[in-house]
This record gives sequence, structure tokens and C-alpha cells, in this order.
Amino acid sequence: MEERLNKTEKEAIREIDAAQARDELERVRIKYLGRKGILARLFKELVTVSEEKRPVIGQSINRLKTVLAQDITQREDELLPGIDIPGGLDVDITMPGVAPGIGRLHPVAKTLNDICALFSHMGFAVVEGPEIETEFNNFEALNIPLEHPSRDTFDTFYIDTKNFDTETEKRRLLRSHTSPVQIRYMQETAPPFSIVVPGKVFRPDATDASHSFMFHQVEGLVVGKDINFAHLKWTLLEFIQEYFGPSFKVRIRPHFFPFTEPSAELDISCMLCNGAGCRVCSQSGWLEILGAGMVDPNVFQAVKIDPDEYSGFAFGMGVERIAMLKHGIDDIRLLYENDIRFLRQF
Ligand code: DAH
Repeated sequence: MEERLNKTEKEAIREIDAAQARDELERVRIKYLGRKGILARLFKELVTVSEEKRPVIGQSINRLKTVLAQDITQREDELLPGIDIPGGLDVDITMPGVAPGIGRLHPVAKTLNDICALFSHMGFAVVEGPEIETEFNNFEALNIPLEHPSRDTFDTFYIDTKNFDTETEKRRLLRSHTSPVQIRYMQETAPPFSIVVPGKVFRPDATDASHSFMFHQVEGLVVGKDINFAHLKWTLLEFIQEYFGPSFKVRIRPHFFPFTEPSAELDISCMLCNGAGCRVCSQSGWLEILGAGMVDPNVFQAVKIDPDEYSGFAFGMGVERIAMLKHGIDDIRLLYENDIRFLRQF
């Protein structure tokens, strides 16, 4: 009897190992462990064994039962781990699968996030404002009066062209820059504060390699006592160094903006020609990347902040332009066509 048990064990294990599919394995299981299987028969034959050996042999059969059941489960896992296919279909689980597509941030979103993160580290709060604005916030309060020619620079999509009342300044528009958020914030918050404002802006420009009717800006505003141009300069140089790297040269040029006085534009040395002059920088060696200046006293007056007590600086930058310069993208339309082969590179 003991010998038969040993033989049965060896044969069963060989058959379990040899099974190549689940249905084959199931046949082996029935053969050995089924109700009328070999082990059941051995149990029945126990009566023929002498009484003193019976408990030992009984235990051996039980052990064999456990061992075979375990072996079968293990072999089952090897054949089809975790997948139970009806009808015992053969599936090659070693075949490489199809990798799920992993999403990523759009380059414009990433640039916005990176810019805001850098200013956050410098202590700026990130705030947002609505894309639909009043004429007052987008123009008047920013020292851009109705008939002033500088309004042309900020060509604008108007929403209510018929039923508006200039007296109550209710004409609404799609903001043409993020600067109106300066007005909203200063109306609600007492200085000192420093904020950056990321967001979409809209201008009825014909689309070409460098223009789009919708793009993004990041606005900055710092207001407090004794804020001066040196603070503005330090903040912007720090930002440029951190964002573009230390190898760029920076220059600050006088400029005009209605909402700042004095105003400036900031250029960085062209990364394509290293300042030597090329097509992208119009042979100048420099690329303009943002506008800035000291908040005009008229703007403070419009939001009822005393310009004798407080001063501040502001800046505004085009996000697409910065993304294009950083990554060497030569056409803004690439950022909006959503060609996955282009977007995957970022
Ligand atoms: N709003 C300006 C534009 O869209 C950019 C700008 C320039 C914002 C100077 C500012 C600033 O806050 O001080 O062209």
C-alpha cells in the first residue's frame, strides 16, 4: 500500500506538471481527486490494511490529497494566472500588452504652472479673474481713456455692442489683457500684497505664426510702502534666471504703457543666435519677453489707494511666447492644433 501511494504521488505530479492547459489539468484533478478518483479508491481500500497500520496509511493518503490539491492550484496559476477563460481558451500571457496612453500637461499649461510656481516661491499669491470684463476694468481704470490711441493696441472683442450705457460703464468685453485683474484685486485688498495672475486673453488678431485671437498672459502686481524700480528689476531678473537659466543676457529698455510710469520692456538675448542676430530676433540679437513698470498714480486713484502712501510695480508677459522661446517652437498655431505627435514632446 505504501509503495502504491509513492507511485501514485510520482505519477500524479508528473501528470500535473505535464498539463499544458486548464482543461487538461482538470482531467488530472478528476482522475486523482474526483469522487471516484484514485485517492477515493485508496481510502476505500483502507479496510484491507491491518488495524495498526491503518491510521498511518490514512494520514499518508490525506497528506497526498493535500499535496496534489496544492500542486494543481499552483499549476493552474502558472497556466493562466488570474484569468479564467470559459472553454479553456489558450492565451499566451507572455505576449506584450498594449501600454495605456499616459496623459501629460499641454505645453501652455505647463509653462503657466512653471511661471506661477517660480513666483509663488518668491512669495507671490496666485489669483485669477474673469475672462468677461467691463470696459472700466479693462481700460478706464488702467488709465486708458475711451478716445486714447493706446486703445488700438488692445484691440478688443466686445460682447454687448448695442444695448450698453456708457454712463454706467456696463459694456462688456473679452479681456484683452490680464491687467484688469489688478483693478479687481486692488479694489478688494488693502496693500501690501504681491500677486501673479495667469489667464486667457482675447484680441481680434488675424492668426499667423506669432498671433492668435486667444492666448495666455501672466500678470504681476506688487503694492506696498516704498516699493521702487529696483524691486521690479530684482524680481524680474530673478525670474528670468530661474526660468531660462543663467546663460541669458537681459536688458531693460524704456517703453510706454498707460498704466505704468515709468514703463519698460525686458529683452533676453536670442537663444538661437546667441545674440549675434538672426531671422527670429530680426537681426537684433534680442527678444522682447515682457512689459513692466511702476504703477501709474492714476491707476491707484481709480481703485482708491493713496498714491502718496503706496507705490507698486506691475508686469505682464505672454505665456505662448515664453513657451515658444524656451522650446524653440516657431509657430504659435502648433500650440493649438493639438497634433498629438507635437504635444508628446513636452
Ligand atoms: N497688459 C500689457 C499687454 O497686454 C502687458 C503689461 C505691460 C502688463 C506692463 C503690465 C505692465 O502689468 O506693467 O501688453
